[in-house]
Amino acid sequence: MAKTTFTCNDCGAAHKKWAGRCDACGAWNSIVEEAALSQGPAKKSLGAAKGKRVELSDLSAKDAPLKRDESGIAEFDRVLGGGLVPASAILVGGDPGIGKSTLLLQAAAAFARAGHAALYVSGEEAASQIRMRAERLGLSDAPVKLAAETNLRDILTTLDAERPKIAIIDSIQTMWADNVDSAPGSVSQVRAAAHELTSFAKRRGISVVLVGHVTKEGQIAGPRVVEHMVDTVLYFEGERGHQFRILRAVKNRFGPADEIGVFEMTGGGLAEVANPSALFLSERENPSSGSVVFAGIEGTRPVLVEIQALVAPSPLATPRRNVVGWDSGRLSMILAVLESRCGIGFSGMDVYLNIAGGMRISEPAADLAVAAALLSARQDHALAGDTVIFGEISLSGALRPTTQAEARIKEASKLGFTSAYVPTSAKSPVDKDFSLKKLSDLNDFIVEVFGNIEA
Ligand code: TYD
Ligand code: MG
Repeated sequence: MAKTTFTCNDCGAAHKKWAGRCDACGAWNSIVEEAALSQGPAKKSLGAAKGKRVELSDLSAKDAPLKRDESGIAEFDRVLGGGLVPASAILVGGDPGIGKSTLLLQAAAAFARAGHAALYVSGEEAASQIRMRAERLGLSDAPVKLAAETNLRDILTTLDAERPKIAIIDSIQTMWADNVDSAPGSVSQVRAAAHELTSFAKRRGISVVLVGHVTKEGQIAGPRVVEHMVDTVLYFEGERGHQFRILRAVKNRFGPADEIGVFEMTGGGLAEVANPSALFLSERENPSSGSVVFAGIEGTRPVLVEIQALVAPSPLATPRRNVVGWDSGRLSMILAVLESRCGIGFSGMDVYLNIAGGMRISEPAADLAVAAALLSARQDHALAGDTVIFGEISLSGALRPTTQAEARIKEASKLGFTSAYVPTSAKSPVDKDFSLKKLSDLNDFIVEVFGNIEA
C-alpha cells in the first residue's frame, strides 16, 4: 500500500497525521492527505564520497550585462524590469476572470511579433476557444504556437523539440505530472509541476510564465514554495466593476519589486495606460469634502491617486472602520494619533476610507493624505482642488521625511497641481509657480488647513 503523508496547502509543511491547524504556519483547515513521494533506500551521507571541486570567482569579476527581450507591451516590460530576461521563470497570480489569460495571450503575441518564438499552453481552455479570443483581440496573425494540454511529460517533450524563447503555462494548477501520485491542483502536483517546468526551462534557456490562481485570502493557491522557485512573482489585480488592471511585481530577481504596469480592460483586450495619474484622477470632478490627492510612488514611477474618506455618526457600540485599498492597521494608528496628539476623536463615528480607482497603496507616505481626508470628511471642509499631500506621520504626531519628494512634486506639477503639503525636509525642484507648504507636525497641518477643531 502506498504510504501517505499530510501536507499543509498554505505553507507546504509535512505532517505525520492530520490536524485541524498547521503548526508551521497557523493556518486552519489547510492540511490535506497525499500519497508520499516514492523514496528510495536511504543514501550514504554526502560527505562519504568526494564530489568535484566547485570553481570560485571574485565579486569583482565582470559579467556581460543582463540581456533582455522586449515584448513591445511597454507596461508589461516595465514590470519585468525592462523586458524579459532569457531563461527566467515568472509566476503571474490573480483572481479568476481578472484577465490573466488575456494579458498573457497578448504578451505571447507581442513577443512572437517581435521575432521571439512563443508557445502558449492552456490547461483550462480548448484551442478553439483561445483562437476565438485571439480573433477578438486582433491577434490571429501573430505566430504564436498553441496547445491545449495538461500532461506535463508531453509538454516538456514538446518544449524540448520546439525550443521557444518563451512558454506560457495557463495555469500551473491544471498541470499534471504522471510521476506524482495525487490529483491535479494538489500541493504535491503544483509543487512538482512548477519545479519540473522551471528547472527544465532554465536548462534549455526557455523563459516560462506560470499562471497561478489566487485563493480567497489573496495568495497564489498551492504552497508558497512555488513563489520561491521562480525569479519573478507578478500579481494581476483590479476591482470588479472598474476597468483598470494593475500588474504588480512583488518579487523580482532581475528588477525592482513594487513596480506596477497599468492596463485598462476594453472590448478589444487590455490597453496600456501610459499616464496612470490622469486615469486615477479622471473621476474627480469638483473637490468635495473627504477627498484628497496623494502624490505617491509606485515602483519607480510617481502616481497621483485620490483618497476618499467618509465619516458618519454610528449607531453601533463599536463603530465601523472600513478600508479599501489601504492597511486597516495603519488607519487605526492614524485615528489614534489624531485622538491622542491632536485631541480630535472619532469615537461614535463610522469611518470609511477608500483609494479611488481600485488602486492599492502600501506606502507610509500616504499617512498625511489619509489624515487630511479623515479630517476633511469629519469637518465637512473640502480642500483646495489644486493641492497634493504626502508625508509619513510618526506616533508622536511629527511628520517624517519621505523618499523621492522631488519626483512626487514634479508629477503633481505636470498634472496641473500648484501646491503641496509636505514634510519639512522636502526640497522644491519646481519653479516659483508651485507653492510648497512645509510642515513639521500634524498639529501645524491641522491649524493651517482647518483652523481650530473642536474635539
Ligand atoms: P481572462 O483573461 O479569461 O481571465 P483569467 O484568465 O484571469 O481568468 O479574462 C476574462 C474576462 O475579461 C472576462 O470577464 C471578459 C473580459 N474580457 C474583456 O472585457 N475584453 C476582452 O477583449 C477579453 C478577451 C476579455
Ligand atoms: Mg484564464
